Amino acid sequence: MDRIRIRGGHRLNGEIPISGAKNATLPLMIAALLTEDTLVLENVPRLADVTMLARILGNHGVDMTIRGKRRGKPNGEGDTIHLCAETIADTTAPYELVSRMRASFWVLGPLLARCGEARVSMPGGCAIGTRPVDLHLVGLEALGAEIEVESGYVVARTPNGLKGAHIEFPKVSVGATHHVLMAAVLAEGETVIENAAREPEVGDLAACLGAMGARIDGIGTSRLVINSVARLDGTTHPVLPDRIEAGTYAMAVAMTGGDVVLRGARPDLLEALFPVMEQAGVDMTATNDGIRVARNGGRLDPVTVETSPYPGFPTDLQAQLMALMTMADGTSKITETIFENRFMHVQELVRLGAEIALDGDTATITGVDRLAGAQVMATDLRASVSLVIAGLAATGETVINRVYHLDRGFERIEDKLGRCGADIERLTG
Ligand code: EPU
Repeated sequence: MDRIRIRGGHRLNGEIPISGAKNATLPLMIAALLTEDTLVLENVPRLADVTMLARILGNHGVDMTIRGKRRGKPNGEGDTIHLCAETIADTTAPYELVSRMRASFWVLGPLLARCGEARVSMPGGCAIGTRPVDLHLVGLEALGAEIEVESGYVVARTPNGLKGAHIEFPKVSVGATHHVLMAAVLAEGETVIENAAREPEVGDLAACLGAMGARIDGIGTSRLVINSVARLDGTTHPVLPDRIEAGTYAMAVAMTGGDVVLRGARPDLLEALFPVMEQAGVDMTATNDGIRVARNGGRLDPVTVETSPYPGFPTDLQAQLMALMTMADGTSKITETIFENRFMHVQELVRLGAEIALDGDTATITGVDRLAGAQVMATDLRASVSLVIAGLAATGETVINRVYHLDRGFERIEDKLGRCGADIERLTG
């Protein structure tokens, strides 16, 4: 298994290109199931999750070809992928595949809309919490699906086709919004989704579905109104830039000091991060082609932050912010309100010398003068990258094990940071 070795203490200077968003790419790829025509996605990041989903979609009969720049080419743009689900070969998504990537559960709705039946393994729990799928199932049932759970599989049928409905989610769910939206675009009549997730990745999916011929109003708001169309066509859609990758590198620069332009980052998608960084004493400014992050000298100031659905502070940046605050001059408080168990990074940050106390959903971080490198590992993508951020500032050597978690969501991380002056290396095997 690959590991990442970091020798800390180097400032970051230069430019980091921001890739297409993982969490937009996954639902966009699944949307290919909704049409017999070819869906072309541009700016697709090269990530293990994309490869895994391609395998899962291939199992359903989706043909995929990739046209991209050569792997490892500096500052390369993402891949362009062509997905064509001319015929659906199989409406079953087996446990072996769904259990490796939760988002693949979202094939259920599109398969139902397209074929009138589907059998998809329940995704099960994961490291960051129980992550149930009740909202997904309630939404699909409202659209007329008959659903049973048999031997760990959701078995769904639509004997009379999907029908428009009024759905109000009791809680904001990104996945349930993606999922029900994809099913509703082909449902007969009007569907209204209230309390829909407003995450930019939902907007990106809705925009792509719109370009495929779907009729969706209220994009970017918590009330989506969908009117049926008989079929969807192919289109070409560029994936929006990854706001979480951009926020992560912003925190890496804040941690080490330096001056970096995050090329291609969209400041409007990170509005919750700007005031937090300002309070901490980091300069973050919007530029013509991205975001510039700079910090010179002095320790950071502590912050108090609570995660919440978009446009609030993202749970996907919580671990990285915690790493940053381990070296602040004072006591920070970070409350996680989205996932009940998203604190796996705490123990590992403590191994590097951080002082963190957990009380329920709140972590209290007392800033220390220095972190010291150690062997660490994490069982979740964002937790793993928080250890990279800490390692960049720790004295000595930090080795991060189980790098495959990082490869799920960060493209060429060692290359992007290395080009800005970090001493970071992948140890293979
Ligand atoms: N929830 C339910 N019932 C449901 C669905 C969700 O109770 O049927 C709960 C969850 O347990 C959680 C909350 O609702 O407490 C929010 O979960 P949500 O459904 O919004 O999360 P998700 O769709 O499973 C996506 C991202 C996550 C990101 C969350 C929150 C993708 C592929 N995943 O997950 O990203 O943290 O939204 O923004 O888009 C990551 O990229 O590292 C990652 C975990």
